Amino acid sequence: MTSRTPWQLAQRAHRMNPSIIREILKVTEQPGIISLAGGLPSPDGFPVDAMREATARVLRDTPREALQYASSEGLPALREWVAAMLRGHGQQVDAAQVLITTGSQQGLDLVGKVLVDPGSRVAVESPTYLGALQAFAPYEPVFTAVDCDDDGPLPDALHTAEGARFLYLLPNFQNPSGRCMSEARRAAVVARAQALNLPLVEDNPYGDLWFDAPPPPPLAARWTDGTVYLGSFSKVLAPGLRLGYVVAPAPLVPKLLQAKQAADLHTPGFNQRVVHEVIRDGFLDTHVPTIRARYKAQRDAMRAALEAHMPAGCRWTVPTGGMFFWVELPANVDAIALLPKAVANGVAFVPGAAFFAEQARANTMRLSFVTVSPQQIERGIRALAAALKEAA
Ligand SMILES: Cc1ncc(COP(=O)(O)O)c(C=O)c1O
Repeated sequence: MTSRTPWQLAQRAHRMNPSIIREILKVTEQPGIISLAGGLPSPDGFPVDAMREATARVLRDTPREALQYASSEGLPALREWVAAMLRGHGQQVDAAQVLITTGSQQGLDLVGKVLVDPGSRVAVESPTYLGALQAFAPYEPVFTAVDCDDDGPLPDALHTAEGARFLYLLPNFQNPSGRCMSEARRAAVVARAQALNLPLVEDNPYGDLWFDAPPPPPLAARWTDGTVYLGSFSKVLAPGLRLGYVVAPAPLVPKLLQAKQAADLHTPGFNQRVVHEVIRDGFLDTHVPTIRARYKAQRDAMRAALEAHMPAGCRWTVPTGGMFFWVELPANVDAIALLPKAVANGVAFVPGAAFFAEQARANTMRLSFVTVSPQQIERGIRALAAALKEAA
């Protein structure tokens, strides 16, 4: 008897890889491990009561509409809300440009589907969001990593991306580096991109999670016609809702919509109605500051622990928002090799190499501070520093 499989995988399936982060998270689920590896928001910030009440109101007032198929573009009232919110941040947005997506992760997939041909180039930051590399990869691009510093992409390096279908950017509290682009850098990057006729895909799930001052206006406010903008409700409400949005220049909207229709017909209408019911009267104005305050205290705890315990030769910048510290280790330390030692000491992190499209830097790691208490952060960083000293 042969056990030959009748299935033949598509070429693109060979470009899909298990997420190293999910593999690591399996390890970190062992009891007793302090996980600084997660990319999850803190469940303490989920607005459980507001969700419960809004769900009851939706089921009372519009039960059949909420449970019916809905439009692919998204709930009109929610699209209007998103457009008005973004106008408040300086963007020129009409609700007709807003598509409600099943998380902003779906927005990344739709962008890849509509804009990327096999062999075409996609430019990304260095490092960049691993989930975006995973979303774009099946469309078979060739990635170009643009050189960056602590302030984001170097304007003088943008010419290496010339001819790419787009440059994918995370200006606010980047995942994984935590960095936030200054106003001057935003202006310079957009000016250079315009000169090169290089469109931008701006991903902003973390922009509301600032600690001291809001970040500068989005890139999309500087170049409306040349920027696709992605946002999310995952970090300000809850990721289990799977609600995000794409704001696209008008010529792209029909194609993104057709791609969305083919993918899943529409984003769950029930979730859209519940979220609109929660946020319609300014709920986020009081809710998001509670998340900021919590994350800021955890950021401070991690900063203090890093300063107290990390050995010489390690470098990090203190994030002014978001969820992550990015640590550069001495050049001879490989974070992937360090991970089992750290786990043996009771702490987990994500090695940074996974976040590079090209020229991975093995001596880097991402540390999340939002799902652990200040006491766990202190113990976790102490254990991490001990593993580093043992490895040296
Ligand atoms: C930079 C970035 N973009 C997009 C996403 C996807 O978010 P969601 O699909 O939950 O909106 C994430 C999730 O962590 C992220 O970090």
